[in-house]
Amino acid sequence: MYKNRRENLEELLPKNSVLLIPGAEIQYRNSDSSFPFRQESNFYYLSGFCEPASLMAITKKDNKISSLIFVPPKDKIKEIWDGYRAGPVGAVKDFLFDQAYDNTQIDEMLPDILFGSDIVLYPIGKKNGFDQKVIDWTSEASKKDRHSKSINISDATSIIGNARLIKDDHEISLIKKACSISADAHIEAMKSVKGGDSEQFIESMYIHEFSKRGARYPAYNPIVAGGKNACVLHYVENNQQLNNDDLLLVDAGCEYEMYAADITRTFPVSGKFSDEQLAIYKVVLDAMNAAIDMVKPGNHIMQPQEISEKVITEGLVKLGLLDGDPEELHKSGAYKEFYMHKIGHWLGLDVHDAGDYMEGEEYMKFKPGMITTIEPGIYISSSMDVDDKWKGIGVRIEDDILVTKDGNENLTKKVPSDPEEIESLML
Ligand code: GLY
Ligand code: MN
Ligand code: MN
Repeated sequence: MYKNRRENLEELLPKNSVLLIPGAEIQYRNSDSSFPFRQESNFYYLSGFCEPASLMAITKKDNKISSLIFVPPKDKIKEIWDGYRAGPVGAVKDFLFDQAYDNTQIDEMLPDILFGSDIVLYPIGKKNGFDQKVIDWTSEASKKDRHSKSINISDATSIIGNARLIKDDHEISLIKKACSISADAHIEAMKSVKGGDSEQFIESMYIHEFSKRGARYPAYNPIVAGGKNACVLHYVENNQQLNNDDLLLVDAGCEYEMYAADITRTFPVSGKFSDEQLAIYKVVLDAMNAAIDMVKPGNHIMQPQEISEKVITEGLVKLGLLDGDPEELHKSGAYKEFYMHKIGHWLGLDVHDAGDYMEGEEYMKFKPGMITTIEPGIYISSSMDVDDKWKGIGVRIEDDILVTKDGNENLTKKVPSDPEEIESLML
């Protein structure tokens, strides 16, 4: 499957080119204690190889793809301390690269690999120090022969991103699993939360529920935001106590075999929505349902965005939180005070996955195999000029939507978003 993905690049790469994809490095948390290693997503997508400090070079010459990888060298002592390394022999045998070398040979070999090519592509600006290295290797390659032509450098971000945008069956099954595990964790949290719990305790439940189902890590820092904390969009402190009368917004999804889920639910700590909470919640839910309906082949990414803005604007007018003609208020962007983020993003190996949002001058059209989140919200912070009864209410609902041939499939619908279903689950 990984080899196939490399071979599929034949159609996407310019002729006589070399694509360089660097892998991730070990990151340190303090002194020599590292974060758990996670491979860089493009690198993983094209190799399945999970050792640090590796580099891939895919060459397209005479319309044929050949693949080469640099990997950590075999090392008896290091393998005793840190574990097995495939080494170049393993990289060829188990990962089906045409050639493999020790990563200690990168600087020496790269100019030769680039020599004679017209263009070198790599994801520009993504890895610290790598841009300069590419420039150095390329200029050395150009100097090898006074009569050789110059080598252009080009960004590979869109080429790989757009390949990753359409998920294959294997990827879809892993994302479904990530979604299912994450949905189960939300269900467990809804069933058990109570006033006085700390946000941190709830966060720990999610991590536990993910991990015991085989997903050791969350795909991103969970947001566990009680009451007004929900109005801070990237609230990750998760260190306050929950009040019985508050809503709890949890944005949490696991990573399963490298693939992300991304779910948000907002539910009442007490198990029962207040009138104001329910009124806001229903507007967000209407926006959510309208937006999901817009996710289908042929439609473009701005259609769910626009309908969500319109439904939220109309809802806010009905509740007296905005004053005026909904169409005018939509045009003027008045809703942005309450709903200031976009409707969603691609989902895959990265939670904010690779892939463009424009095709040339046009918005990207949905195609079967794409997965997008749909996540409208309304946030009424305490500093807003509204009736006190609304202040501190923050609601977001987020599901993960697979585009299918005929429409879409909501991969996270298992966790209820209907307020009555939430209340009965929490009883
Ligand atoms: N959890 C990140 C996001 O919803 O975009
Ligand atoms: Mn999201
Ligand atoms: Mn999210």
